[in-house]
Amino acid sequence: MVQMAEERDGHVPVLREEVVAALNIARDSVVVDATYGRGGHTRAIMARLGEGGRMVVIDRDPEAVARAREEWSADQRIDIVQAPFSRLRAILEDYDLCGHVTGILFDLGVSSPQLDDASRGFSFSHDGPLDMRMNPASGIGAADWLEQVEEADLVRVLKTLGEERFARRVAASIKAHGRFDTTGELARVVAGAVPTREPGKHPATRTFQAIRMAVNRELEEIESVLPQALDALAQGGRLVVISFHSLEDRLVKRFIRDQSRGDPYPPDLPVRHDMLNPRLRPVGKATRASGDELHANRRARSAVLRVAEKVSAT
Ligand SMILES: C[S@@+](CC[C@H](N)C(=O)[O-])C[C@H]1O[C@@H](n2cnc3c(N)ncnc32)[C@H](O)[C@@H]1O
Repeated sequence: MVQMAEERDGHVPVLREEVVAALNIARDSVVVDATYGRGGHTRAIMARLGEGGRMVVIDRDPEAVARAREEWSADQRIDIVQAPFSRLRAILEDYDLCGHVTGILFDLGVSSPQLDDASRGFSFSHDGPLDMRMNPASGIGAADWLEQVEEADLVRVLKTLGEERFARRVAASIKAHGRFDTTGELARVVAGAVPTREPGKHPATRTFQAIRMAVNRELEEIESVLPQALDALAQGGRLVVISFHSLEDRLVKRFIRDQSRGDPYPPDLPVRHDMLNPRLRPVGKATRASGDELHANRRARSAVLRVAEKVSAT
């Protein structure tokens, strides 16, 4: 389906119509957008909710939350929370919504304004202070992280999160350089350590991605939230996740597979599938953006959408 190029601060929501369809929205639905960003998905969801509908939107980025407040504070149907989504259960308990959510969306990773604003320190192409935290008031920024990390751990992070072939060389150059204050300085050192060039790709792309994911503990956040999301859903509720990294997608895929199989049981015992208490059912296959969407939005290239429905009552 062709996406309308709705855009806020340069951010175009990915797979928007597919997400809205997957969330199965009725006028009185209770929907959580756990990654508000610039609200592209929230806006499309709110347009389908009636007076009795509810939304809770979450983002750990203070700018995203400020934008959400500007846009929605007058709307009684929506609550806005600045927090990491790994606090999902506690957040929903505060609103008495745990177990009552009809759809929950995770559109993972970073937003375009986070990448494009040099002062946030995410970008190798806009020079700024090296930070990369989605919430600059929490945890440690990339410059401090690089100073503290052991070289062997940095190699592992670059290999796993960045799939960087030259992880050893890059890690050695980074550690030999000493403290980095700016993204430009880091980009130059990494470019000097990577011996080959991929067409259309800055040589520091993989390293920046890996450091960002480590600094923000992105995989740990997903691992922690998936079981909470399942508890949050009502029976028949939908879990909808857009991943941009193969390791994120693997966590989501395995979670859906394991929760769809239910309890482990010795294979020789004669039990029916429903006796294993499956909690989820996958809905359709993994979906990628259409050619039209890819044409209009480069960020959609690596997006993978997975959807599952809660089948158990608890
Ligand atoms: C890809 S953007 C979402 C874009 C949004 N769907 C839209 O259409 O505008 C991801 C957002 O999720 C937030 N985010 C990522 N990981 C998070 C986490 N663990 N907890 C809370 N927010 C997170 C980021 O700060 C960012 O604003």
